[in-house]
Amino acid sequence: MGIVARRQLPLRPAGPDTVAALLDWYDRERRDLPWRAKKRKKSDPYGVWLSEIMLQQTTVKAVIPYYLRFMERWPTVADLAAAQPDDVLAAWAGLGYYSRARNLHKCAQTIVREFGGRFPDTEDSLLALPGVGPYTAAAIAAIAFGMPATPVDGNIERVVSRLFAVRHPLPAAKKELRNLAATLTPPRRAGDFAQAMMDLGATICTPKRPSCLMCPLQGDCAAHAAGIEAQLPLKAGKAPRPDRYGIAFLVLREDGHVLLRRRPEAGLLGGMLEVPSTEWLDDWVPMEPACGAAPVRADWWPVPGTVVHVFTHFRLELQVLRAIVPIDSTLTFWADPERCRWVPRRDLENAALPSVMRKVIAHALKVQ
Ligand code: ADE
Ligand code: SF4
Repeated sequence: MGIVARRQLPLRPAGPDTVAALLDWYDRERRDLPWRAKKRKKSDPYGVWLSEIMLQQTTVKAVIPYYLRFMERWPTVADLAAAQPDDVLAAWAGLGYYSRARNLHKCAQTIVREFGGRFPDTEDSLLALPGVGPYTAAAIAAIAFGMPATPVDGNIERVVSRLFAVRHPLPAAKKELRNLAATLTPPRRAGDFAQAMMDLGATICTPKRPSCLMCPLQGDCAAHAAGIEAQLPLKAGKAPRPDRYGIAFLVLREDGHVLLRRRPEAGLLGGMLEVPSTEWLDDWVPMEPACGAAPVRADWWPVPGTVVHVFTHFRLELQVLRAIVPIDSTLTFWADPERCRWVPRRDLENAALPSVMRKVIAHALKVQ
């Protein structure tokens, strides 16, 4: 698909005046978010760090309730460092990317142990912390400490690609977009600049239909001048997401406990709890041999329908088998008994269960 320019307007390239217009807009229109300092107030580095880790790959709307719960339960980095790792994982359940939760806890401990509970304020020293990559280091340096750093997330990539009408496709264009964003970063108010770009990307310069008529940067935007804004940023063709299939075994004990298993620390959903299942393979596993590999010997009842969950790298479809077993049931070799535990139904809500496993349990218990 080639790009055809519809119009060409007189244009000054984006520069300091663009930034001034953006900051004016931010002062009027900025979103009121719980981790944001009030105007001209200092932000709390702990809150900035926590929110930025949570906001990686997740929307502002999904993050807000988690952020508020964490801040209420662990109001300082020292409180979080002292928490049980399992409690942090359980509080994170539903946000996804669970290695982030483990690194979050490790990072809190590093801050307490090596920095006396105060976050370091330079990009380089932040970058050395567990779970803090270039984006997060720049975001904390700019937002929490006012350093002239340039965090570039997907929103900012989109806005910059449009402002400068960058026609090279992502992901190869990432470096170019980062450099262009850095040319705009003002020496003062770098944190407000970054957050203004994020807000603009989230509310006005949106992926499909940017609202250019309401945009404070309209006069400076090369893509809008050329009428190609909705086509940017270009993206290189992506490989399609593969499908995986498996059979999950929901075991209900007669006293109302459910059998759960802890996943290995490394890998997808590492350290989280799961409903035991067969391996997740490229095709359906036939029912007969699958039942032979069940975690307990039982009369299995296939729950009608399937559970579908989309991960970053594949789509998972699970058939769920349910059984009710006596209290003295023993687990089979296949259950990996060391990793298993019986959890009372009323405790499921607060267990370290990822979204996909919550779906499996809800699906299995829906039909009585
Ligand atoms: N996305 C990531 N960080 C953000 C922030 N500080 N404000 C708004 N959206 C964000
Ligand atoms: Fe985005 Fe349109 Fe504003 Fe350009 S004018 S930055 S395309 S909303």
